[in-house]
Amino acid sequence: MRLERPSLEWELEHKKYVEEWGPSRMVPSSFNIDGFDSYPAYLEALAEREKGNGKWLPNTNYFLVNDQNRIVAMVDIRHSLNEHLFNEGGHIGYSVRAVERRKGYATRILAEALKKCKDIGISRVLVTCDEENIGSAKTILNNGGIEDRSFVDSEGSVTRRFWIEN
Ligand SMILES: CC(C)(COP(=O)(O)OP(=O)(O)OC[C@H]1O[C@@H](n2cnc3c(N)ncnc32)[C@H](O)[C@@H]1OP(=O)(O)O)[C@@H](O)C(=O)NCCC(=O)NCCS
Repeated sequence: MRLERPSLEWELEHKKYVEEWGPSRMVPSSFNIDGFDSYPAYLEALAEREKGNGKWLPNTNYFLVNDQNRIVAMVDIRHSLNEHLFNEGGHIGYSVRAVERRKGYATRILAEALKKCKDIGISRVLVTCDEENIGSAKTILNNGGIEDRSFVDSEGSVTRRFWIEN
């Protein structure tokens, strides 16, 4: 099991992940390949996003890849927080391939992402989840998350917020 940066090598695997994901909004959004003319065009846009261009803050993205070279999970590490990330997004966003859930991969990719945060120098890591996302809340608690106050948006949706000392 290892982390790999998005590159042309992962085009087919990434596309399979997206197919299996279905129509709902891709999480993390940095892995959404819809609307690009080609995979290289997606990679170029991702590179700009990672540098913090446009509306983005600098961030780094990884696939969690198993020994059979299948992508089992994805993670986006944001290097700092703006108001939206402080309230709702957090430093780290992740998802697990639909057919690979309930096998500990979310817990694993969050643990790996925390190591990367340490390398970047993020010592207090904010990780969030929707109120109803029990699997994600458990993933955060498995990695030492301490719950802070929740954020409630204008429509009443509740985001649970946890800090992890790193
Ligand atoms: C939420 C998500 C990341 C969990 O991934 P996962 O690989 O299944 O999680 P894990 O196997 O590491 O499980 C962590 C814990 O949550 C539990 N869990 C996972 N999914 C669950 C679910 N749907 N309902 C209840 N518990 C669940 C597991 O049993 C495990 O509990 P344990 O530690 O007590 O054994 C995955 O379902 C997913 O990708 N969902 C869509 C994207 C998303 O919600 N991302 C998170 C945004 S904050």
